[in-house]
Amino acid sequence: MDERHSWASPEYVAEWIGQDVIEDVLRLPRSISVGLVADDDLAVERVIDLGAGPGAYLEAFLTAFPAAEGVWIDASEPMEEAARTRLASFGDRVVFRQADASRPDALDLPPAQVITTSRMVHHFPADAIERLYRTVHDALTPGGWFFNLDHLGSPDGWEPRYRRVRSQLIARSRDPKDRHAHDHPFHPVSDHLAWLRSAGFATPDVAWKTFFSALLVGRREH
Ligand SMILES: C[S@@+](CC[C@H](N)C(=O)[O-])C[C@H]1O[C@@H](n2cnc3c(N)ncnc32)[C@H](O)[C@@H]1O
Repeated sequence: MDERHSWASPEYVAEWIGQDVIEDVLRLPRSISVGLVADDDLAVERVIDLGAGPGAYLEAFLTAFPAAEGVWIDASEPMEEAARTRLASFGDRVVFRQADASRPDALDLPPAQVITTSRMVHHFPADAIERLYRTVHDALTPGGWFFNLDHLGSPDGWEPRYRRVRSQLIARSRDPKDRHAHDHPFHPVSDHLAWLRSAGFATPDVAWKTFFSALLVGRREH
């Protein structure tokens, strides 16, 4: 990946946050995630967000569940700075950890009722996603919830159509070169559902989808 587009670069991170054109669109799937957990009447003590970036997912959960602690995990130092600012009002309810989520065996996740991740996993190769899903499943307490809000592969021909229409409805970032690179095509929904099932989630589903972005949801059995 071009160094300019690295999440380690403070300039790139500031630019990405300033041009996050689908941030508003993702409010609905984040609210759906919060709503599904609230509907389950689960005592939420800990929420972990992987590749948390500026912290929008944690913000939604910590607001809805005032007794919960948040664990922010991301590999980027400049993102940690941005998240510390955005999440400052939650004080010591948020624990910050820099770690590489593409090496899940070393993540050492504490038990949690909810684990979220958004717009990170599509950067990973298939085997890293499978291992991450297993690690997440094993860290969840019985009845716990996993949400992956991410960009997923579409059947042949659909992604270019989606991109054309999406750019008419949602403002584009200023310069296409400034959008970050993807090393491989997005993995299809069917692959994600199969990996979630083999990780132990009995009935994973797609709770929301707009164009090629979707909310995958899995619940650990009691
Ligand atoms: C597109 S941003 C999304 C941020 C946030 N989840 C959101 O949706 O607003 C991707 C984030 O994933 C993080 N990330 C990318 N690869 C990672 C890895 N291997 N381990 C941990 N974090 C990673 C980046 O640092 C960045 O904060």
